[in-house]
Amino acid sequence: MRTDVAIIGAGPAGLLLAHLLAQDGIESIVVEARTQEYVAARIRAGILESSSVDLLRAVGLGAGIEAHGDEHRGIYLQWPGRAGGGGGRHHLDFVDLVGRTVWVYGQTQLQADLVAASEAAGRAVFYDTSSVALHDLESDHPSVTFTDADGTAQRIEALAVAGCDGSFGPSRAAMPDDKRDTWERVYPYSWLGVLADVAPSTDELIYAWHPDGFGMHSMRSATVSRLYLQVPNGTDAADWSDDRIWTALATRLGHGQDGWTLTPGPITDKSVLPMRSFVQSPMRHGRLFLAGDAAHTVPPTGAKGLNLAIADVALLAPALGRLVRKNDLALADAYSDTALRRVWRCEHFSWWMTTMLHISGDPFDAQLQLSQLRWVTSSAAGAAGLAENYAGLPIGF
Ligand code: FAD
Ligand code: PHB
Repeated sequence: MRTDVAIIGAGPAGLLLAHLLAQDGIESIVVEARTQEYVAARIRAGILESSSVDLLRAVGLGAGIEAHGDEHRGIYLQWPGRAGGGGGRHHLDFVDLVGRTVWVYGQTQLQADLVAASEAAGRAVFYDTSSVALHDLESDHPSVTFTDADGTAQRIEALAVAGCDGSFGPSRAAMPDDKRDTWERVYPYSWLGVLADVAPSTDELIYAWHPDGFGMHSMRSATVSRLYLQVPNGTDAADWSDDRIWTALATRLGHGQDGWTLTPGPITDKSVLPMRSFVQSPMRHGRLFLAGDAAHTVPPTGAKGLNLAIADVALLAPALGRLVRKNDLALADAYSDTALRRVWRCEHFSWWMTTMLHISGDPFDAQLQLSQLRWVTSSAAGAAGLAENYAGLPIGF
């Protein structure tokens, strides 16, 4: 097969890139290792920055967000103690602080919108493939080979390859070791994430510091809650009964404080997520361009992973457009440096939110965290810094 851009991975980065390229008249073929059902069902991120929403709306992908998304003005930060006495629940209003909002819209919903757009346009996506390999990346005729779902060997020749295959795909490793730098931080804790069929007990997300460990209340809709608990690495979700989960959440989220109650409900999904920061640079090698988790990972506390994937492909699509149409490499050459400025900003913010809110076991760390929480909730400058990063910087930052 021949196409303009071979895209590896049909997650948000890969499918959105195919959509943006198509709007510019550029052809692509997407190759995905998993089945369409598996990709559609993965429960992951839940928050879109306003610049992500603006982009999705501008390219005809805003209808689902309009119909089912929930626009939030801000978040709550809390730690034990009474409101007024230093602790308690504090609201950060991003609209007042930086004039921007965020949207609750699950990655599963965005993935469904992207699949619907891809199918409506009849774009080529190969699901359930194996042995995906990248070739001749340093030439101007790179290719991707794979075995399709029927067991037939396939080859795509293209002008460029987009590695949108997440943290474990082959694209990252297709860059020679002596031509890439990597940075990594592994955190000494994980998240136990649960999805529950119960109306959220809060109007906006709650991020809670607690001596037992971080707790968080997010949501997916008016009837579905998403909740997280800090747990030790290596935790087996099977050791956490539904009762144990609701009791820990109630404690950490402050059930009974200032009259607030957490309403439990049937848990429909339970999983443990390890936390890692990772960056590979440059995000380009010859005609291979990395986007999204293929190039970088953030711990989820800052809600940045999905937004970064969207921002990467927003930069990459015009760069590939110029490469394909005019053989003009100016934007392609600038892609990695431009994308990495935002990537490192989000890496820092995600690390900062993570280390401010999770219990490390060191009492000195705990005092620093509480001091930082008091500052971001009481100083206009501290609050605005958090709000600017959380609500998100413009795509071109
Ligand atoms: P992905 O969504 O990972 O998509 C990559 C695609 O490539 C996948 O479909 C994969 O199957 C495919 N692929 C892999 N290998 C191959 C191969 N060999 N050949 C072809 N295709 C391949 N972010 C948040 O902001 N908040 C969260 O709560 C949150 N929770 C998360 C939970 C988990 C378990 C994970 C893994 C991530 C989470 N994230 C979260 C991060 C967020 O979901 C990602 O940043 C986002 O999915 C990145 O999109 P992507 O398209 O770059 O990568
Ligand atoms: C989620 O809803 O899954 C979610 C929201 C905010 C985060 C992380 C996860 O920071």
